[in-house]
Amino acid sequence: MTPILKASGIQKSFPGVVALANGELSVNPGEVHGLVGENGAGKSTLVSVICGATPPDAGSIEYLGEPFAPRSPREAYNAGIRVVFQHLSLIPFLTVTENLYVGRELSGGLGFLNRGAMRKRVDATLQELGFAHIGGQDRIIHLSTSQRFLVEVAKAVLYAPKLLIMDEPTAALNDAETELLFSITRKLRDEGSGIVWITHRLEELAQITDRITVMRDGAWVETVDSADVTRDAIISSMTGRKITAEALPPPLKAGAPVYLRTSGVSSDDGLHDLGIEVHSGEVVGIGGLAGSGIEEVGRLLFGVTPLRAGTVEILGRTYRRGQLSPGKLSRSGVFYLPGDRMGEGIFDVRPVLENTSVSALPQLSNFGFLRRGEERSSVRGFIERLGIKTRSAGQVIDKLSGGNQQKVLFARGMLTKADVFILEEPTQGVDVGAKADIYKVIHELAENGAAVLVISTDTRELLTICHRLLAVHDGRVIASFNADEVTEDRLVSAYFGQIDERETA
Ligand SMILES: Nc1ncnc2c1ncn2[C@@H]1O[C@H](COP(=O)(O)OP(=O)(O)OP(=O)(O)O)[C@@H](O)[C@H]1O
Ligand SMILES: [Mg+2]
Repeated sequence: MTPILKASGIQKSFPGVVALANGELSVNPGEVHGLVGENGAGKSTLVSVICGATPPDAGSIEYLGEPFAPRSPREAYNAGIRVVFQHLSLIPFLTVTENLYVGRELSGGLGFLNRGAMRKRVDATLQELGFAHIGGQDRIIHLSTSQRFLVEVAKAVLYAPKLLIMDEPTAALNDAETELLFSITRKLRDEGSGIVWITHRLEELAQITDRITVMRDGAWVETVDSADVTRDAIISSMTGRKITAEALPPPLKAGAPVYLRTSGVSSDDGLHDLGIEVHSGEVVGIGGLAGSGIEEVGRLLFGVTPLRAGTVEILGRTYRRGQLSPGKLSRSGVFYLPGDRMGEGIFDVRPVLENTSVSALPQLSNFGFLRRGEERSSVRGFIERLGIKTRSAGQVIDKLSGGNQQKVLFARGMLTKADVFILEEPTQGVDVGAKADIYKVIHELAENGAAVLVISTDTRELLTICHRLLAVHDGRVIASFNADEVTEDRLVSAYFGQIDERETA
């Protein structure tokens, strides 16, 4: 069988970094090919070479049996290669339909855009893919992170691609959306497309892939049949070491004060009567389906979106409508890690150093003067601790791999010495090893007396790191569980609104 794609001996260096020392990837028609490796292993760079965005220094590619050296993404696109990138590429102020047709608008006669036809086609595609909650007329800016991602997928599959590459497609998706993406992927595979599936959620390898290629330090390590390997074997070929991701939260202290409490809180965007309580020393998780309202919780509590009714009590102070603001909250000891890292979190052209220390500047200053030595040494400490792969603390952050950018954002929060942490998708895009490190740091925060609220679409993550879990359904907390007493199934049923009396929150 001629592979759809065969990349061999791909090399690529950037100033001071060898991103690819020996990239190899061979994808057959009708297969889902997993591509895994630690943060910074070179996965996205390899994709970027294949799709014509980055010229390689050496190596060769065959596509459908012919030599292939795309000089631009347009050339790869025209050859039938589609990529769903780790960083979204949609234009926020346009509608879904406009985004899907950017650059190839359907015209009616006389060169007029046939908007009606475009819209119908997009609505039909969205429907067919099962994205009924997204409309062709919705503006991207009004969609949640996961909805934006699904639009990105719709854009890629609009015309059957020969090769579809998805770079961490499930990082921001919840379980139901992930299932949906699995079924779309299987359908494309059955129609003969070759699919590359990059992920840090290793349990997906068994669920969706046929073969797996492992990369380490920019080089190919092995390609194996998914049926023949265990998760542990993949982890050790990725990292060269064994990792135990299991982490138990520290024991709760009796009589610890409540640091964060909401009562009767509602928002304009669909949260009603939300009741949350997090004690000092406690890690509380919040989960729910897409559209349940969990996407709103962090922004609401941090004063980014307005509170419509109810009260929020944080560190002994009570806030009502109009009184919450990000500035006020961060000054009084609250740190918020937004889930939408690209949109809200990163100052992309600034160095790692500033991106890490930005929220902690007050703690690192005397009378308005920044103690630069201390800034540098504490940032360096975190670079080491979380294994952030960067040339130096002075490197501009958008040159880091996706997972390493996420680690920088996380480190930013840890430097603030806040007492209340609101963490949205804290390990999004982070590899297994770093995930375990981040879990450890979260537990240390709690042990030192902070209250931690984790909002995550990753059910296993919540079950692993939290003391208590809150299930949100239809804008309300409908059930509360002790993490060590609940199964994944029970939790997910609660997300769907199915609870029995004992569990009522
Ligand atoms: N434009 C660039 N300039 C400098 N260095 C770069 C650039 N692009 C990538 N790198 C470096 O190349 C290495 C590989 O990065 P890449 O993004 O391919 O990793 P990855 O395997 O996709 O990681 P992740 O899982 O975190 O997304 C990293 O060390 C990264 O910092
Ligand atoms: Mg990447």
